[in-house]
Amino acid sequence: MFKVGLTGGIGCGKSTVSDLFKRHAVPIIDADEIAHTLVEPNSPALKQITTCFGKDCLSTAGYLNRTKLREIIFNQPQKKVQLEAIMHPLIYAEIEQQVQSLSSAYCIIAIPLLIETQMQASVDHILVVDCTEMEQIKRVQLRDQIKRVQLRDQINTQQINAIIHSQVSRERRLTEADSIINNNQDCTQLALQVRNLHHKFLKETA
Ligand SMILES: Nc1ncnc2c1ncn2[C@@H]1O[C@H](COP(=O)(O)OP(=O)(O)OP(=O)(O)O)[C@@H](O)[C@H]1O
Ligand SMILES: [Mg+2]
Repeated sequence: MFKVGLTGGIGCGKSTVSDLFKRHAVPIIDADEIAHTLVEPNSPALKQITTCFGKDCLSTAGYLNRTKLREIIFNQPQKKVQLEAIMHPLIYAEIEQQVQSLSSAYCIIAIPLLIETQMQASVDHILVVDCTEMEQIKRVQLRDQIKRVQLRDQINTQQINAIIHSQVSRERRLTEADSIINNNQDCTQLALQVRNLHHKFLKETA
């Protein structure tokens, strides 16, 4: 199984690119989705998080309060390290499990923090989706406005900026890339780049 690690900064278009690969029937493994599933109520990961962060980070129904958790992390950087120490090994273990269950020529593994977690060696090819910082901020804000249902989970401009600067720089990420998707244009251009890459990966894995 040829593993393509898809990464990029916040709002650069990873999920959009994943959806485009999905249309070509490529299996997608999504680290964000895995992270969400791992912290379901009563899960071992959520119990560890509650021990570390207190019951404040839980809603009355026992769900993880992400807004609260984000606040804690921004104010106490050492807590971020602790959260990552709980989550990252579990996420990578689950990714490996999911890879084992696949039988296609290649798969896409969307891992926003692939480079930050220094897990480049866990994939065979690093695909970076890239856009300008201005586009990142604009798109994240617009996405939040559209997703009104998740209002409680919204992030403000200051938080978007803080996230961008907590991630590796755009330049550093690009130096790690085996392939780059330029997402400064419209979605038609994006779909074309994905189609070309899909054919390239199929050819290389044939
Ligand atoms: N080329 C584009 N033109 C216009 N809007 C775009 C384009 N690419 C992505 N978007 C929009 O920008 C927003 C961010 O894209 P997406 O959610 O795919 O980014 P992401 O990298 O997955 O973000 P995150 O790091 O938060 O998971 C979405 O609302 C998406 O629909
Ligand atoms: Mg995403």
